[in-house]
Amino acid sequence: MTLINGKAISTELRQSIKDEIFEIKKSHPDFLPKLVIVQVGERPDSSTYVRMKLKSCKEVGIEGELLKFNSEVGQDELVEKLHQLNDDTSVHGILVQLPLPGHIDEELITNSVKQSKDVDGFSQLNMAAIFKRSAVPLQIPCTPKGILFMLDHEKVQIQGRTVVVCGRSDIVGGPMAKLLEKRGATVTIIHSKSTPEQKRFFLSHADIIVSAVGRVNFVTADDVRPGVVIIDVGTNFVPDSTKKSGHRLVGDVDFDSCKEKASKITPVPGGVGPMTVVMVLHNLIEAAKREYSY
Ligand SMILES: NC(=O)c1ccc[n+]([C@@H]2O[C@H](COP(=O)([O-])OP(=O)(O)OC[C@H]3O[C@@H](n4cnc5c(N)ncnc54)[C@H](OP(=O)(O)O)[C@@H]3O)[C@@H](O)[C@H]2O)c1
Repeated sequence: MTLINGKAISTELRQSIKDEIFEIKKSHPDFLPKLVIVQVGERPDSSTYVRMKLKSCKEVGIEGELLKFNSEVGQDELVEKLHQLNDDTSVHGILVQLPLPGHIDEELITNSVKQSKDVDGFSQLNMAAIFKRSAVPLQIPCTPKGILFMLDHEKVQIQGRTVVVCGRSDIVGGPMAKLLEKRGATVTIIHSKSTPEQKRFFLSHADIIVSAVGRVNFVTADDVRPGVVIIDVGTNFVPDSTKKSGHRLVGDVDFDSCKEKASKITPVPGGVGPMTVVMVLHNLIEAAKREYSY
């Protein structure tokens, strides 16, 4: 079994983004890629993700700005601010930290970000481009994009392979399945309405499994065939009295049993998570280069 080390791959990619910015700045000193993160409220998990993203920006030479609103902010005020950011030529990427408080329509807000600045890739126009056969999306949502990067990095053949994607959300499973299908795989999606028999049948025939469900032990060694490549997107917390926090992070996949059968597998933590973060930077730098026409 080979461990797909997302942490190491993301570190490599982060360095290459940093090098690229450094090189561009040599000939274009005015090149100043900038990301604005919009956060509403004070959810501790959101604040952690925002801090991580801003730190990553700083490390590679991207200007990162946080625009914080209190959780009572009105939807219209938020939309107006997003329109201002859309028009601001010094801003190349806008990221609205999700989830938003219940009184705000997330769909409306994510669609209010201009397509070219939508570094999360969640707007309808970006999504539509993923699903349209001939279209090339400006931005690909960071988690599926990071997974494709990892598979390519590990030289996993996609074309002609039998792939199962577990989960069909707009941010992970749905675009993931479509992007793999566009790369020539034959893809089946397992979701909450799939029967246990369907799940067992399709998983046991898969060359590649991507699990993005959010259920502990959703994929076990009994489900998979020898040689399978497994990408574990799930982030679940299980009680663990040996940890200071009282819990530990695990994925959807029973790693210990599956690692014996898989040819390649991602760990949790240290697999998909770090790739998701670095893809924000990748989408941002691509957006900035488009804006400057470099
Ligand atoms: N590591 C990372 O960077 C990263 C990034 C994003 C998400 N995640 C994690 O990945 C997981 C999925 O995230 P998400 O945003 O896609 O979640 P989500 O929006 O809740 O979607 C979960 C998907 O799993 C399906 N599902 C739920 N229970 C199921 C079951 N018992 N059998 C089969 N399918 C089932 C749902 O089916 P229906 O559509 O039928 O409801 C849905 O399509 C979560 O653990 C999340 O924390 C990790």
